[in-house]
Amino acid sequence: MAPTLLLVGGGKMGSALLSGLVAAGWAPLGDLAVSDTDPAQRARLAEAHPGLTVVDGPVEAADVLLAVKPDVAEAVLRTLGATQPRRVLSIVAGISSDRLEAALPPGSVVVRAMPNTPSLVGAGVAGLSGGVGATKADLDWAEGILAAVGIVVRVPERQLDAVTGISGSGPAYVFLMAEAMIEAGVIAGLSRDVSHTLVVGTLLGASRMLDETGQEPAALRAAVTSPGGTTAAAVRTLEFKAVRSAFIEAVAAAVERSRQLGR
Ligand SMILES: NC(=O)c1ccc[n+]([C@@H]2O[C@H](COP(=O)([O-])OP(=O)(O)OC[C@H]3O[C@@H](n4cnc5c(N)ncnc54)[C@H](OP(=O)(O)O)[C@@H]3O)[C@@H](O)[C@H]2O)c1
Repeated sequence: MAPTLLLVGGGKMGSALLSGLVAAGWAPLGDLAVSDTDPAQRARLAEAHPGLTVVDGPVEAADVLLAVKPDVAEAVLRTLGATQPRRVLSIVAGISSDRLEAALPPGSVVVRAMPNTPSLVGAGVAGLSGGVGATKADLDWAEGILAAVGIVVRVPERQLDAVTGISGSGPAYVFLMAEAMIEAGVIAGLSRDVSHTLVVGTLLGASRMLDETGQEPAALRAAVTSPGGTTAAAVRTLEFKAVRSAFIEAVAAAVERSRQLGR
């Protein structure tokens, strides 16, 4: 019997989604199949998910999750078209639903999503939007898949470049901040290990406060900024160094780059 969902491209994002789906109750034997051109990747997936159908090439399936690199995405869809998939959820960066639909048989439904790497630890966040023919049921289906590895936000397709600039590239901004803070701790005399533990714990704790208190970041920051104190001195320096506008410019550059790549 054909699997319910064929995952095309079982690399970093594909295998994270696969693990999330299995954890959410999808059966490797029957519900899922994976197609990947890399033999080593196929071996890893087969070992990690006993019973999973792992192939090199198209197989018939009701629905497809497309997780290959952008440069091969349209060619892969043209090959898949012969198997007449009902609908395709693409997590491929930058390729519009129009272009994806054009590579499929007429009437095929396309839903696009931009997930991010914390999906690898089940803490992702993804923007989701439907192509021309996508119905609410198609978006619910796609959200059901992405929700296995994190939070899903529905946006119009024209906003997916902005999603890319904020949450797609966003983990890298946080990693850069972590790198800098760890280095600063070492310069201030801490061992690298201690500095690492303090920085990671601070980022996790601050993120949880943002999430769990529901308060605005500005209010949380004001609450820890005593007049004339240490945090005030640090924040003054960050403002003097234009960190706020650096973030605004960085996100704008990522959004523009995402637009360029999609042309
Ligand atoms: N990583 C991210 O943060 C992120 C975030 C959002 C969206 N995305 C999107 O997710 C997609 C996948 O990214 P990734 O980081 O998971 O890439 P990846 O690790 O390179 O995975 C892609 C996999 O697809 C395989 N493949 C290539 N051609 C194929 C074909 N014709 N049929 C089946 N499998 C094929 C690749 O094998 P080979 O190694 O042999 O080529 C590889 O194992 C990209 O389009 C990217 O834009 C990624």
